[in-house]
Amino acid sequence: MVRTSCEGRPAWLLRTRDAAMLLSLGPSGALLMDHGGADGGSERGDEYLPRPPRNRPSHREFLDGVPLAYPVHGDPSFKEPCLAAVFADGTRTIRLGLRDDQIGEQDGRPTLTLSFEDPVHGLIVVLGFEVFAEHDVIRRTVRLRNAGEAPVRVERILSGGIGLPPARYDAWTLHGQWGGEYHLTSRALAPGKFTTESRRGFTSQEANPWFAISPAGETTEQFGQVWFGALAWSGNWTIVCEVERNDALNVVAGINPFDFGWQLAPGEAFEAPALVCGYSAAGLGGAARLLHRFEADVVLPARHRETLRPVLYNSWEATHFDVRVEPQIELARRAAAMGVELFVIDDGWFGARDDDTAGLGDWVVNPRKFPNGLGELIDAVNGLGMQFGIWVEPEMVNPDSDLFRAHPDWIFHFSNREPTFVRNQLILNFAREDVRANILEQLLKLLRENRIDFLKWDHNRPYTEAGWPSAPPERQREAWVRHVWGVYEVLRAIRAEFPDLLIETCAGGGGRADLGILALADQVWTSDNTEAADRLLIQHGYSHAYAARTMVNWVTDVPNQQTGREAPLGFRFDVAMQGVLGIGGDIAAWTAEDLELARLKVAAYKRIRPIVQHGNQYWLADPGRDDPCAVQYVAADRGSTVVMGYQVRGRVGRGARRVRLRGLDPSRRYRRTDPAAGASAVESTGGALMAAGLPLFAEEPGGNLHVRDWLSEVQVWETVEE
Ligand code: GLA
Repeated sequence: MVRTSCEGRPAWLLRTRDAAMLLSLGPSGALLMDHGGADGGSERGDEYLPRPPRNRPSHREFLDGVPLAYPVHGDPSFKEPCLAAVFADGTRTIRLGLRDDQIGEQDGRPTLTLSFEDPVHGLIVVLGFEVFAEHDVIRRTVRLRNAGEAPVRVERILSGGIGLPPARYDAWTLHGQWGGEYHLTSRALAPGKFTTESRRGFTSQEANPWFAISPAGETTEQFGQVWFGALAWSGNWTIVCEVERNDALNVVAGINPFDFGWQLAPGEAFEAPALVCGYSAAGLGGAARLLHRFEADVVLPARHRETLRPVLYNSWEATHFDVRVEPQIELARRAAAMGVELFVIDDGWFGARDDDTAGLGDWVVNPRKFPNGLGELIDAVNGLGMQFGIWVEPEMVNPDSDLFRAHPDWIFHFSNREPTFVRNQLILNFAREDVRANILEQLLKLLRENRIDFLKWDHNRPYTEAGWPSAPPERQREAWVRHVWGVYEVLRAIRAEFPDLLIETCAGGGGRADLGILALADQVWTSDNTEAADRLLIQHGYSHAYAARTMVNWVTDVPNQQTGREAPLGFRFDVAMQGVLGIGGDIAAWTAEDLELARLKVAAYKRIRPIVQHGNQYWLADPGRDDPCAVQYVAADRGSTVVMGYQVRGRVGRGARRVRLRGLDPSRRYRRTDPAAGASAVESTGGALMAAGLPLFAEEPGGNLHVRDWLSEVQVWETVEE
């Protein structure tokens, strides 16, 4: 990190292991991004020849088409801004001047803090850049403070901008819906704007706050330049990619300005969620690995960062709302015999919950289903050598609940609008202190009275009628943000009292994974769609943003409850092994053969788990394009690797496919060691495995493999000591 100058203007050079960012102060006080990309070895920055593109002489003052790091409404520019506010005197533009710059250190990491001020109104804007050199990422923050005498109405405050020079670019984002989350989608950016966002109040299944930008047509999974970013925010968010009139690219990301408003009273401050951004020259996979490492080392709750996630069983698809002690104990016996380490009961154990019409809000054990309390089941589960976990949906309430009957005004609502129901439930307004206190108390009581090792925190509906009638009129729109802060606060309080608790975030399937919730939750329910072929696409997309140790996958029954399709049990296991293995079928109905296969698969997973959960991930062939597909995990010391291959559909005329491995030590010898390798162990060198690869499904008997459906295999290779 150095303070430097560009054409005589103050500038700052931020360097990570392989990337560099050069910022400078523009003539009108705007923050220019003169370089963002590969580290070219420059120590002062001026070797990057920072010459911002210029507009025609009569428009010389305009910053349109000039890459900016934090565009503000008030800069001489018409691009999508990060910041906009209205001052008490009616002024609607912000003019910032640099107050000071500080190069410092936080936990041993270099930081750059740039303080700007609108001197007329006393609005202070502090931009923070925290440099994680080894992770090749920069964490950006924005803090506003009203040092003036009058309130400021903040209309938008995004977390940061990335300005790239004129060129053609592609954007990669994650999209879907319930049952089909996280599909990796790319498009060529054309003049105009492409927006990906959530207005649903939470992160959403439809889109995820992660993006990657690459030079048009040049970047693949393995090769090419990628600029990427991810927001630490679980509420409404937006990412706008704007191709300006000269083909420069302006990407801004942060809290969605849709229906947003913030009243910043004199002396008050507001901090926007962090934007984590980085650059990789190793394709989408390279960018993913950087994010995975950052999540593992920096974002995830420290307590469980390095612990291997347990193999879990969840009884939701087996018993749905009919959660009773005896049948659950029976399921627990079978789960334990399979090698499961954590037994989880899902929706249905609490309040008057027999279906989705009642009970949400009353986090007390249902006495009819558990006449002796939860202790009876927990003792049985612990006695079988497993941990015990439970499902909650704390932000939600059914009108048919004691909580709602006592506090009908605790929900988001407008007094003269009928609420829109989803799954018969409404949303508790966590912006309210009394709501948070009530729910926290209920959850703490549950956790204090029962030995609970794991909480699955669900959230099954989007926000509608997001009104907060009891708040002052000028603060109504703060509900969107204050609710999310409220959820974070409750989770933090729970973690503080129960530091060992493992928490899984879920939102009607995979609707809440982001770097905000992942600071408070250890793992993520990826999708309610557990069908193996669909799941390959979901997991492929998810794994481009989030680490394998967070991705929970269940093996469930056939025909699949979501798609009706049937895949063999072995295939279902091999797909679910990609992240954190879970089992979610009605194992009471599984045959002795199924149970035995499950036992073997769980044992096999436990052997590869450290490599899958803590290794480096490489997609060798993408699902969805051309079967077969394959993913590889490599241990940090490159001493072992796991290759998982899948062929959903066979096809006549297709030859046997090979996949070239990645990330190995070329000079070391590796031997295939999984049981399917048999006695005649195959050996090769890392160099050869990366050059020529290995054939998929070579060990299957019967020939003609490329015409068979539902083939899968998990190969393990380990270095041979010479
Ligand atoms: C959501 C979750 C499921 C399950 C149900 C229970 O849909 O994604 O896994 O917990 O709620 O109602």
